[in-house]
Amino acid sequence: MKAAFPVTAIALPLAAVLGLSVAPGPKKVHAAQAAVTWSHNVAPIVYKNCTACHHVGGSGPFSLLTYRDAQRWGTMMQQVTTSRYMPPWLPEPGHGDFQDNRRLSAADIATIKAWVAAGMPQGDAADAPKAPVYTSEWQLGPPDLILSVASPTQVPASGPDVFENFVLPANLSSTKWIRAMEIKPGSPQVVHHANVILDRTAALRRAHPADWQRGIPGMDITVDSGQNFDPDSHFLFWKPDSTALVEPDTMPWRLDPGNDLILNMHLKPTGRVEQIQARIGLYFASKPATQFPMLLQLEHDSTLDIPAGDAHFVVEDSLTLPEAVDVLAVYPHAHYLGRRMEGFAKLPGGETKWLVLVPDWDIERQAIYRLSKPLPLPKGTVLHMRYTYDNSAGNPRNPHTPAVRVRGGNNSTDEMGHLWLQVLPTENAGKDARMPLEKAWMSNRLRKDPSDPTALFNLASMDTEAGEYTEAGKLYTQALATKPNDPRVLTGLGTAQSLSGDTAAAQASFQAAVTADPNYADARFDLAKINLQRNNLAAAEAQFQTIVQLNPNDFAAQDGLGSAQLAQGKSDVAAATFDAVLKADPANFDALYNRGQIAAAASDLATAEADMVRALAVHPDADAERTLAIILASQNRFAAALPHMQAAARLAPADEETKRLLGRLQAELQR
Ligand code: HEC
Repeated sequence: MKAAFPVTAIALPLAAVLGLSVAPGPKKVHAAQAAVTWSHNVAPIVYKNCTACHHVGGSGPFSLLTYRDAQRWGTMMQQVTTSRYMPPWLPEPGHGDFQDNRRLSAADIATIKAWVAAGMPQGDAADAPKAPVYTSEWQLGPPDLILSVASPTQVPASGPDVFENFVLPANLSSTKWIRAMEIKPGSPQVVHHANVILDRTAALRRAHPADWQRGIPGMDITVDSGQNFDPDSHFLFWKPDSTALVEPDTMPWRLDPGNDLILNMHLKPTGRVEQIQARIGLYFASKPATQFPMLLQLEHDSTLDIPAGDAHFVVEDSLTLPEAVDVLAVYPHAHYLGRRMEGFAKLPGGETKWLVLVPDWDIERQAIYRLSKPLPLPKGTVLHMRYTYDNSAGNPRNPHTPAVRVRGGNNSTDEMGHLWLQVLPTENAGKDARMPLEKAWMSNRLRKDPSDPTALFNLASMDTEAGEYTEAGKLYTQALATKPNDPRVLTGLGTAQSLSGDTAAAQASFQAAVTADPNYADARFDLAKINLQRNNLAAAEAQFQTIVQLNPNDFAAQDGLGSAQLAQGKSDVAAATFDAVLKADPANFDALYNRGQIAAAASDLATAEADMVRALAVHPDADAERTLAIILASQNRFAAALPHMQAAARLAPADEETKRLLGRLQAELQR
């Protein structure tokens, strides 16, 4: 009793200095410290933040799933969490608020530290949360479609990192909307990260006919987004602790027949030769998308020319938003010399909002950062990126000693500086709400490089879509100056010419595209179509036939073939062509409509009627309604015919012939 008195007297002022409350305070602190155990305090932190990588078969070098594991690595766990080396997390807090933020709180770090200081007690095992289970099964159950890389790839035991692109043809027969995707890259120890890119025109496969199944080297790959305006919209990214990618209900992404997925992989030698063979599982949505985000990019790679030894080389870009958007996610990207990355938005009112800040970039730790909640940015906001590169010996990740001059490019020894944003236009809904963004982005690219063929091509495509064919033709021609004989540009030019009514010029452009790339089905299809339109029927038939031989599932080409045969009076051959289409694709409107027409011409009215009814169940169409009305009326079934003729008149109000027929039908019914 006596001894206790002076001790308390000393402790009180100390407690006051430490800001502790006087009465039960010190006792409580002591009690909590004593109680730090694996089961109660540490396991929840480790299971939430570490074991996604640190499990057997995961990317981490050891498992942290059990108390024994954690005890073994405890001291090191304390070191790497205190230094924030683990878990891997690059963004600076307070500069963007991200989902699955892996940064540990100060309290979590203190808990691990206190646990190690206390001798790493286990505590009551029954108190521990259930350890998470990591399986090699598909996380969301059996996928609707599994795509596999054609054959295993060997990664050497040592040497530099390997960057490979694998083409995975989707081989669909109809459009699917993808609500979720899981990438199974093979071994997470070897595969550092992977990106899936949608190749709408199978451009990469066509460019590498001999070796696409083996894998095509390259760090960053770009493909264009196809004929119709539909820019890339989703980050399809994998890193070792990624879960399956589940999109919001309103935002599945589209996969069409003829599309390829390209799996872009960063592979790291592990010390022994490894075999990997990636798989991708796709889950179909029951409904198409109703919201259409888009990926926007800031970059200025053409200014990347970093002198050896320069520790503060800066690259900047900015882009003014032509309309209001929500920012959904960000993806900063550079290679080995990138050091500090700033992404921010200057609002029209002058306020600055951070998109992301990476104070010490490390390509090994790159990730997509999805915002905790969408960040609304008004029209007129200026997006900025400012990246600093360190090409000195002071950069521990500099691949060159001594440093060498480094320029922009795709190889891992080149540099890059991209800030990708996933944004959703908020003022308008629908796919085309993205067009002003695309226009602003492409115009920005053109400002940086007036001969940028991708920007010219995309701007030309948008002009085509807007009905400005002359302007489109000019831009395509400009693009051909840097990319002579590019089949995609030639096809675009042909489309603009065809739509402006200059079918002769269009034919020449499509022909040039086919000559440049005989495997380019789009160009061949357009050439066949323009020949059909210009009444070069035998040529059209031969061209459609070639496409069908290359891809028997190309029903549009099959329909074209049937139409070319029909136009030459070969109705039996044409009917057989349409029969074949309908066997594989029973809801093919064109085949049903055309077969119905052939049957009607042959006075097989029962078949004609059945086909038209089926065609109209696929989608409304004025011609099909009118044909069906005529088929019915020719059997004196005027009352049944009337609603179809009325529907035809409603769908094509300017059509004089329909109006005249409707009048006759009504007169007939009066009698
Ligand atoms: C995204 C995957 C990932 C997560 C999450 C992760 N680690 Fe790691 N960890 C790794 C990898 C990969 C390595 C080995 C390579 C390296 O050092 O980056 C590693 C290495 C370590 C090391 C050894 C460090 C050294 O210097 O050798 C420790 C200790 C560690 N992690 C602890 C943790 C702890 C504790 C957590 C959670 C708080 C955690 N890790 C979360 C992937 C991860």
